[in-house]
Amino acid sequence: MARPHIEPFCDRDTHFKPMRLLGFGAGMHYKMLSMDVDTGACSMTVQFDGGYKRSPGFSWSEYELIVIEGELKVGDRVCRKGHYFYVPAGYAMPEISSDQGCLLLYMYNTGEPSHEEATTHHASTQTQLYHDVDSYMDLSWAMGNVAKPSVATGCMIKLLNYNPNSFAMTFLYCMTPNFYQDNISYHDCAEESYHLWGTSWMMQFGDVPTGGYFWRPAYINHGAFASEYGCIALGRVDSKLFNHFHYNPWSTPVENADRSEARLLARDPLLYHWAFSQDHNHPHSPKDFELTMPRRANEAGHDTEHKSDGHRHDHWHGHHHHDEESPHTHDHSHDHSHDHRMTMTTNIKPGS
Ligand SMILES: [Fe+2]
Repeated sequence: MARPHIEPFCDRDTHFKPMRLLGFGAGMHYKMLSMDVDTGACSMTVQFDGGYKRSPGFSWSEYELIVIEGELKVGDRVCRKGHYFYVPAGYAMPEISSDQGCLLLYMYNTGEPSHEEATTHHASTQTQLYHDVDSYMDLSWAMGNVAKPSVATGCMIKLLNYNPNSFAMTFLYCMTPNFYQDNISYHDCAEESYHLWGTSWMMQFGDVPTGGYFWRPAYINHGAFASEYGCIALGRVDSKLFNHFHYNPWSTPVENADRSEARLLARDPLLYHWAFSQDHNHPHSPKDFELTMPRRANEAGHDTEHKSDGHRHDHWHGHHHHDEESPHTHDHSHDHSHDHRMTMTTNIKPGS
């Protein structure tokens, strides 16, 4: 997600443009917030006019969506502000429409916006990853100190999506009235935020009002923070969120990255020396053995028929099926085939 640093920015300062891409129909307007020009991945404020309708279908890109204002109908369901959707690539949604119009935040994560008319999912879709929730009504706030070192008390989160491989997250966060935090932070990940309501303040970039937005690459200083009346925002990080705090307003992104590297050396010296070694050539990047290793070796005297290739596995019980005396003797032949890709990533592009 190589997008440029966009900050400060407020969508209220720009005008909507009509969406003219095929498949979206008339009555959809957008403000581009940020875009990866290599892939077309982007975040947009979107307005549907009253009476807007879009046929059932899927996108070639994974996308996320939250209702900012108004009502969005998804099939027969009415989804109000705060309703969040995570939609995998190739996942066919029912007809969507809006009787009175609505305002939405759309995030296409792996490619440009697209709509392919369809009533069934694409064959490669990881359908089990789909989820949606009324995040205002049906989730409760968690303390911000789920990430440590922690933000100051008074900043809370609701987790909306989590990638267990990259630790990327989508979440709501709020600052309570009179929240403040006096240190400066940066992260090893890109950070994105859209202010759904309210104003917060940062030392470097000033006020972030309703409609305020940033896409901030890694290692850029931000903070101190404050919010006089409180705010609620949607935030995302593209990998593990670690709060590097300090009090040096003059440090550069290069110095911040050097500091992160030094902290990695202090914390995981063996990993550091391996990763940065010049003696090894890793043309295809390091391997995660857990994703490819055989699950079971050829054990002498044991059943070798059911060994795994790492992608499929049978039920294997730690006892001897061929032992007549075994109390567990039973004919047990169901073969659960799992496609392990399904659990690994959220970022596939069907058809590619
Ligand atoms: Fe941050």
